[in-house]
Amino acid sequence: MKPGFIRLVAIFSMLFAMFVSASFGGEVEVLHWWTSGGEAKSVGVLKQLLEAEGHTWKDFAVAGGGGDTAMTVLRSRAVSGNPPTAAQVKGPQIQQWGDEGVLANLDDVAKKGDWDRLLPAVVSDVMKYKGHYVAVPVNVHRINWMWCNPDVFRKAGATIPTTWEQFSVAAEKIKKAGFIPVAFGGQAWQEATVFETIVLGIGGAAFFRKALIEADSAALNSEVMVKCLTIFKNIKQYTDKDAPGRDWNLATAMVIQGKAAMQFMGDWAKGEFTAAGKAPGVDFIAAPAPETSGAFLFNIDSFIMFNVKNKDAQAAQKSMARLIMEPKFQEVFNVNKGSIPVRLGMSRAAFDDAALRAFDEFASAAASGALLPSMAHEMAVFPAIRGAIFDVVTNFYNSDMPPEEAAKKLAQDVKDAM
Ligand code: BGC
Repeated sequence: MKPGFIRLVAIFSMLFAMFVSASFGGEVEVLHWWTSGGEAKSVGVLKQLLEAEGHTWKDFAVAGGGGDTAMTVLRSRAVSGNPPTAAQVKGPQIQQWGDEGVLANLDDVAKKGDWDRLLPAVVSDVMKYKGHYVAVPVNVHRINWMWCNPDVFRKAGATIPTTWEQFSVAAEKIKKAGFIPVAFGGQAWQEATVFETIVLGIGGAAFFRKALIEADSAALNSEVMVKCLTIFKNIKQYTDKDAPGRDWNLATAMVIQGKAAMQFMGDWAKGEFTAAGKAPGVDFIAAPAPETSGAFLFNIDSFIMFNVKNKDAQAAQKSMARLIMEPKFQEVFNVNKGSIPVRLGMSRAAFDDAALRAFDEFASAAASGALLPSMAHEMAVFPAIRGAIFDVVTNFYNSDMPPEEAAKKLAQDVKDAM
């Protein structure tokens, strides 16, 4: 073959490759609420992978931990007929969006990727609307954690508590030693996160299920609930005066910097410690929240895709869904984020001790009936019920309302919201 001809073939192949990638490169506008240091690092992985396939990532980050602001913004964009291409939405809300008939069907990606085999059924059921995949899961977060600064505990002569009684003893010592015992962010979702962790610890899995999943009036207005509320309020004296309104990651920073001893928060907090270069087991300790060892309150992040007409945008959506479930993303993202992979059968080699404990307790809690969806993180009840619980919990925490009255109000307001 003549060298000229070979060069021509090479140029032609290059042009063809450029044409192929250009014609398949679409844009995805992705709504999410991952704006803290650890979160941004994690979501950056997805952006990179998508861009490596020739697509464009249009970032639509809406700040606000727990995602309530993001969900309000999403609703208003959807109502005006202009939803983003992809959005971070989870739990029962996926079904609500499905009811509106606006979601793209991801069955072909799921089939090619074998999602039915690679996901636990409890997860894939939530991702499907009327039997069709409309969402892709990202991770499994565990809520019932306590993030401790061992140095602060040591200086105060306090021990990391495993019961709520021990918590009060430790918190007193820490306070006397001049530290803030609990790093707290006074926002409704953070208050609800701490509250539900106490309900799990004090009430146990069966009570949690009755009260915060089935929204049972008798459980909501019960002596056990009064006890949970009392313990919740007891924490307040161990927080600082700047707690109201504080973002969760700023509370985590107080533990990182040794100003505070502990924070009750899901394992996205670990993403902040690792992003700050802190070593697990050395600079920080991840312990189960008091009385919740062996139980696993879970929260699964996921993305829904909205129907779009543009073929390139459809291709970009499908790439995004496929990449999320691939081992590479599942590993790097979850190591950064503090969560564990949602995909079954992943290697554990890259994960730290806290993650390994989460892997093991996810399985053992599933077997013992102590694997529970989080109410605070939109996994357990519809938004109206969650909103009613949030209102009572936050009003109770921020007023002089007696716990008996709060329990009664919980039962009443939840019933009205049903
Ligand atoms: C989400 C996490 C997120 C956290 C704080 C939770 O509801 O599931 O992914 O890091 O909120 O914003």
